[in-house]
Amino acid sequence: MTLAVQYSYDNIGIRSPHRIMITGGAGFIGSNFVHHWFSAYPNDRVVVLDALTYAGNRKNLASLENNPNFRFVEGNICDRALIDRLLQEEQINTIAHFAAESHVDRSILGPDAFVQTNVVGTFTLLEAFRQYWLAQGQPDHYRFLHVSTDEVYGSLGPHDHAFTEKTPYAPNSPYSASKAGSDHLARAYYHTYGMPTVITNCSNNYGPYHYPEKLIPLMCINALLGKPLPVYGDGQNVRDWLYVLDHCRALDTVIHHGRPGETYNIGGNNEVKNIDLVKILCRIMDELAVHLPIKPSNQLITFVKDRPGHDRRYAIDATKIKTELGWAPLVTVEEGLRQTVGWYLTHRHWWEPLLSEEYQAYYRQVYPS
Ligand code: NAD
Ligand code: DAU
Repeated sequence: MTLAVQYSYDNIGIRSPHRIMITGGAGFIGSNFVHHWFSAYPNDRVVVLDALTYAGNRKNLASLENNPNFRFVEGNICDRALIDRLLQEEQINTIAHFAAESHVDRSILGPDAFVQTNVVGTFTLLEAFRQYWLAQGQPDHYRFLHVSTDEVYGSLGPHDHAFTEKTPYAPNSPYSASKAGSDHLARAYYHTYGMPTVITNCSNNYGPYHYPEKLIPLMCINALLGKPLPVYGDGQNVRDWLYVLDHCRALDTVIHHGRPGETYNIGGNNEVKNIDLVKILCRIMDELAVHLPIKPSNQLITFVKDRPGHDRRYAIDATKIKTELGWAPLVTVEEGLRQTVGWYLTHRHWWEPLLSEEYQAYYRQVYPS
């Protein structure tokens, strides 16, 4: 099944060709963005810098390995010498910075890596890019896109207005606090040095290449294996879901048209309670999967102990990016979820090897039986 969405790049290629460094490009959103970028701008130079943590997977980029415009570098965003060398060697003019520790549950178990990568790593990258940009004569078409999250705004009550770019920061988990720190640094580099940074704060993404421990892939994979579908707390927490390729289109638009120093919120306008989302997934699984160990799969839904400090509701007001830059999501939740379930059904060879001993150990910690 392919999505019935036609992308048009006719009016947004104005600053191409780019020589773009994509950090975290072997992760979920980063790898989708790399594929998006190559399909839109096949002649651009793309350098992926990724440390290949548990969440990074080189197989996500396998189809590009022989592309002469593509280079993969295994390395850490905290490694200043490496970044200096790559910026020079590749004459980078754009950074799209995705690399991060991204999972709230892991940040609760061990926050250290979150501060290191998300705060220190982002700082290292910003400072390296600043020195390089200065040495190049401060070209105004250079861009540093800092990809961030709606979680920096904290938690909404049921009747609160959705997050706007002016909502005060109130991060509640070590993950969101570390992302908030990195956002402040990116903002400060524009205000202090005039470096052309742009920040985006996006809601929950879903789609292909999503690591198995996040909600949507976890539910698909557990249903296929006949394992319990663990819903935290009362299942009434609300998230605003966005199909990952809609996010990639938004980031592309921000790179080309976003104003330096600005923040743009990106969201799907798709608020769904977790329990309702899981039930939708079960319905689609029952319909699309040829064989399921337990059917209907909603029998597997199990309420488990809540996540500590679990934010109740996120919702994004994406008016600014829509009115200023003309971006809006194109994929409905039903269409995107069907596409995603279909992908996990046909990509067992992708996810099965990821259910490693490390994954099982993590799983036992988060879901003690
Ligand atoms: P992910 O965990 O799937 O991927 C992160 C990638 O970064 C991995 O490939 C990993 O190997 C790499 N990485 C981690 N530490 C690194 C380091 N020190 N140096 C170099 N590479 C490193 O994450 P994701 O879900 O794709 O999220 C990407 C970005 O988007 C993150 O900054 C996240 O905060 C943000 N974001 C995610 C969502 C979402 O729903 N997933 C929503 C909004 C914003
Ligand atoms: O809002 C954007 C954020 O979305 C990103 O910044 C993060 O990088 C990304 O991981 C995601 O964070 P969440 O914590 O919202 O995603 P997760 O998939 O872990 O959980 C989604 C919701 O589902 C959340 O309310 C917790 C709940 N949940 C999750 C898991 C893994 C469950 O009920 N059961 C589960 O087993």
